[in-house]
Amino acid sequence: MKSLYCSHELLQLIPIIFFSILLLHFQQVAAVEYVRPPPGKIISTSHNRPDSHPQQVHISIAGNDHMRISWITNDKSVPSVVEYGKVSGKYNASSSTGEHTTYRYFFYNSGKIHHVKIGPLDSNTVYYYRCGGVGDEFSFRTPPSKFPIEFALAGDLGQTEWTASTLAHVNKTDYDVLLLPGDLSYADSQQPLWDTFGRFVEKYASKRPWMVTQGNHEVEAFLPLFKIESFKAYNTRWIMPYQESGSHSNLYYSFDVSGVHIVMLGSYTEFGISSPQYEWLQNDLVKINRKKTPWVITIVHVPWYNTNIAHQGEGEKMRIAMEDLLYKAKVDIVFAGHVHAYERFARVYDNQANPCGPMHLTVGDGGNREGLALMFKKPTSPLSLFREASFGHGRLRIVNQTHAHWTWHRNNDDHNSSVSDEVWLANISANEGCNKKLAFQDDDGEDMSNNVIMNDEL
Ligand SMILES: [Fe+2]
Repeated sequence: MKSLYCSHELLQLIPIIFFSILLLHFQQVAAVEYVRPPPGKIISTSHNRPDSHPQQVHISIAGNDHMRISWITNDKSVPSVVEYGKVSGKYNASSSTGEHTTYRYFFYNSGKIHHVKIGPLDSNTVYYYRCGGVGDEFSFRTPPSKFPIEFALAGDLGQTEWTASTLAHVNKTDYDVLLLPGDLSYADSQQPLWDTFGRFVEKYASKRPWMVTQGNHEVEAFLPLFKIESFKAYNTRWIMPYQESGSHSNLYYSFDVSGVHIVMLGSYTEFGISSPQYEWLQNDLVKINRKKTPWVITIVHVPWYNTNIAHQGEGEKMRIAMEDLLYKAKVDIVFAGHVHAYERFARVYDNQANPCGPMHLTVGDGGNREGLALMFKKPTSPLSLFREASFGHGRLRIVNQTHAHWTWHRNNDDHNSSVSDEVWLANISANEGCNKKLAFQDDDGEDMSNNVIMNDEL
């Protein structure tokens, strides 16, 4: 009788256990499900220093062992000089070779925009500096001369609460150089927003070199009637080392840092095979010495590979024009922005997985005012290995001549940033299979792709 009672009791418990397990499952799913954040509010960073004091200070690599210091003063009489040294307050070197400019944009008149190149500088060294002979002292650290080197990557920044969160996360862990694949201020012709952006990023961009390329939000072109040329604000405020790299345009350039050759391309200037950009790229890639710079990275605004619904196919013409050049040059990684999400592709060439093609990554997730690109194409392409519409930033640590570690950090909230994706990758030029024949063909034209070492998985 007792055992019958127990059986009956057990039978009553079964649905309770079943529903408890079901409830637990749903709670766990709810706990891991990530709620997509809305766009952040724009932060307007005001000017609160005297007119002669520097504002919007940022630095960029300017050829071997040199750094370009850029800043703006409302006072037009301030000279374009930078005093600097290795000890705070003791400036035993100065540069008076600076240049300055101003620009007009409809009724807007810019402040005096200073650019001063300083050096030669020692590698991996902290320098203290003062701009224009007045105001606060700033400091920066030069990149190392050897591996390892760590890059931070965030595109489509803007100046919102999410941007502030991203940059705070970037700054939590030390890095050497920030790479920005376009869309900086989101001023979109409202020129004072370039000034607020410059002030917004100063505390980071005055400490580490910020190397940028331009996006659609930098174009700011109007009909010729108004005589406003494209990229007016971008080209006057964010001068990059184009002259140092033999380019005739600030919209595309290259530079070497610690064994890495970085090529910045322009999505919104001509890129066809008869264009100046194409010709420059061809010459630049031919000159790469893989013994000196074993790693080659390319950065462009509009992604050539993209499975997001947003901006679908926009990079296709440029991919068709230039992908061959990058493939033949054994470029290791192509970073892009524009799509407000994160996506990592396999090594790829001509829309097919290829162990000797570059790995493509989209990092347009910096925190801009337009919000996230939430919709991805379905079904998922086998070339797309990780994709997520969240704000965040990436880190590329190049450990040595042959190996690098990529991590992507999603901004969970204002206090934490988690590693959501990571991969080790091997240098293509160190891959004997890729060095033998780029097209995976032997002398008789036979396909050798099965003999090539896969170098993504370690
Ligand atoms: Fe864009």
